[in-house]
Amino acid sequence: MSQLLRPASLEVLAPVSVSSSQLYREAVEKLSHAHIHDATREALWIIEEALGVNRLGIHAYSEYPIGPEAYKYVMSLVERRASREPLQYVLGSQEFYGLEMVVQPGVLIPRPESELLVEEVLARLGSHPQPVIVDVGTGSGCLAISVARALTRALVIASDRSVAALAVAQTNAMKHGVFSKILWVNGDLLAPLLSRGLAGKVTAIIANLPYVSHDEWDRLSPDVKDFEPRLALDGGPDGLDVYRRLWQEAPSLLAPEGMVCVEIGIGQADRLCQEIAALQCLKVVKVQPDSQGIPRMVCLQRVG
Ligand SMILES: C[S@@+](CC[C@H](N)C(=O)[O-])C[C@H]1O[C@@H](n2cnc3c(N)ncnc32)[C@H](O)[C@@H]1O
Repeated sequence: MSQLLRPASLEVLAPVSVSSSQLYREAVEKLSHAHIHDATREALWIIEEALGVNRLGIHAYSEYPIGPEAYKYVMSLVERRASREPLQYVLGSQEFYGLEMVVQPGVLIPRPESELLVEEVLARLGSHPQPVIVDVGTGSGCLAISVARALTRALVIASDRSVAALAVAQTNAMKHGVFSKILWVNGDLLAPLLSRGLAGKVTAIIANLPYVSHDEWDRLSPDVKDFEPRLALDGGPDGLDVYRRLWQEAPSLLAPEGMVCVEIGIGQADRLCQEIAALQCLKVVKVQPDSQGIPRMVCLQRVG
C-alpha cells in the first residue's frame, strides 16, 4: 500500500479519464513549475498537436473526456518540454521560409535569421539560366529545399557530415516535392564535391556552418546546449574554425565570379572580413544585418 502512494509510482498512473480543461490545467501547471516562460500557450500548442484539435475545440469542448492513453501521451510531451527540450523537437516541426520542416534531436532547429541566405540567393540568381548551388551543412535541409522550390532551373546540392541530419533533410525534401531535384552528399565540407567533378562549376555556396565560440558555448541556454547537436554549433575556440576551412576549399569549386554566402554569429563580421582581405582568391562583397541589426550574413565572391 505504502508503495502505491510513492510519488514516483503516482507519476505513471494515468487517470481513467480527465476533462480536456483539467488536462490543460495540469499541462500549464507542469510547464509553469518548470519555469517555461509562455506556459499557457505552449500547453495549448502541445495539446493541439498531440490530439489533432484546434484551440477553439479545446475551449469549446472543455469538459470533453480525455481517455487514459491520450492523457499519457500529452503528459509525456509536456514532461519533455518541462525538462527544457525545445518545443520544436517535442512537436516535431519548425516553420522556415513558409514551409513546415520536420525536426528531431540530431538536427539543428532552423532559425528565422537563416532566411537571409535564401533571400540573397534568390535575389542574385533568380534570372540565372541554370545555377549550380551548394548548401553545405544542410541540417534539416531548410536552405536547400527553399532554394530548390523557388529556383526551378537550379541544380541544388545539399551536403552534411551528419548522416542523421541528411536523413531528416531528405524527409523534408520529399514532403515539399523536391527530393529528386537535389543531389545529396555525405561528407566533410566541400571535399566530396571536388571529387565529383564539380571543380570550377558552382555558381553559389550557401552555408550556415557551426559558428558558436567556446566562450559563447558556456553561455548558451540549456534548451540549446543540452539538446541541439554540438556538431551543428561548435565552431572552435573563436567560432570561425569551420569557416576558415571553407575559405580554403571554396575557390577551387566556384565558377568565375561565383559566390559564397554564409551566416555568422554576433561580433564575428569584422574579424572575418579582415581575414578574407588577407586572401588572394575571395573578396567580401556584402555584410547584411538581420532584423535586430546584428551583422548576420557575409557574401564573398571569387576573385580571378
Ligand atoms: C548550424 S547547422 C545548420 C543547419 C541548416 N543549414 C540550417 O540553417 O538550419 C550546421 C550543419 O553543418 C553540419 N556540419 C558541421 N560540420 C560540418 C562539416 N565539416 N562538413 C559538413 N557539414 C558539417 C552539421 O552537421 C549541421 O547539420
